[in-house]
Amino acid sequence: MVSYKELGLVNTREMFAKAVKGGYAIPAFNFNNMEQLQAIIKAAAETHSPVILQVSSGARKYANQTLLRYMAQGAVEYAKELGWEHPQIALHLDHGNSFELCKSCVDFGFSSVMIDASALPYEENIALTRQVVEYAHQFDVTVEAELGVLAGVEDEVVAEESHYTKPEEVIDFATRTGCDSLAISIGTSHGAYKFTPEQCTRDPKTGRLVPPPLAVDVLDEIMKKLPGFPIVLHGSSSVPQEYVDIINANGGKLPDAVGIPEEQLRKAAKSAVCKINIDSDSRLAFTAAVRKVFAEKPGEFDPRKYCGPARDEMERLYVHKIKEVLGSDGKAD
Ligand code: G3H
Ligand code: 13P
Ligand code: ZN
Repeated sequence: MVSYKELGLVNTREMFAKAVKGGYAIPAFNFNNMEQLQAIIKAAAETHSPVILQVSSGARKYANQTLLRYMAQGAVEYAKELGWEHPQIALHLDHGNSFELCKSCVDFGFSSVMIDASALPYEENIALTRQVVEYAHQFDVTVEAELGVLAGVEDEVVAEESHYTKPEEVIDFATRTGCDSLAISIGTSHGAYKFTPEQCTRDPKTGRLVPPPLAVDVLDEIMKKLPGFPIVLHGSSSVPQEYVDIINANGGKLPDAVGIPEEQLRKAAKSAVCKINIDSDSRLAFTAAVRKVFAEKPGEFDPRKYCGPARDEMERLYVHKIKEVLGSDGKAD
């Protein structure tokens, strides 16, 4: 058993309380490799933003969970080396789908876990979430739960259709589970194709897809029922069209990739939404930078020469999200 406290990590309780009060959101960035982690930590250190490092089941399989955990531990030291005296870094399990997985992360030094039982019937979601909360809270590890279903792929959980969170259920759910934060479904979804062309309109000038707005009425209802309770938005990448264009112009094929407009996220961040999950945008930044190097310098074969620019691009993206969308800069001073 390793406590996250020994690793210099923090849980999300205080981060979220301050974010809800202060009208900003904490960035939750997924990481799978060293370059992503370096970019996240450099961006957070530079902006003095609290940050949540997210590890999905897919990341655990890809990079090895032991390695990822030690990388997160190393990230705390790296942040200090960058001049960030008291780094506020949480290590979070993204979309945990069983008690055993959540327990193993708690035991292994994670400071926060998500139990995603949103695909289960309501009472089963409550029972499993409660079981994880009871275990995690013994070690002061915070727990995110999910109510409502997002469309798209959530690792092994694939949902064709989304079901918005029912505001009439949230009080009962939060009370009976004791969860520390609640991921809700209001129209966001995972990946780089958040909406089908049929769900969108098209901008007549640019020909680009214009996505439908988020269900802010549902968010408002939820916030009325649970005043000040920390709300989480998954699937919140914006799918920057400049990256999509670079990818498509350099041998890629991402037709009609579309995300959540930043303006909507900016508004959400000012509300009780205190954690915003971003993964796909970082993948796009990485891929765009790598494709550009390959197109411009076909003779390049040193991974540092294309992973380096990819890392720089991700760092720019993270700084932009922190300062221009979430408003969490300067909040870890
Ligand atoms: O929720 C989805 C995250 O973007 C993680 O994606 O399962 O492919 O690692 P992944
Ligand atoms: P995106 O695919 O929109 O980046 O969402 C990531 C996410 O929700 C991770 O849990
Ligand atoms: Zn997610």
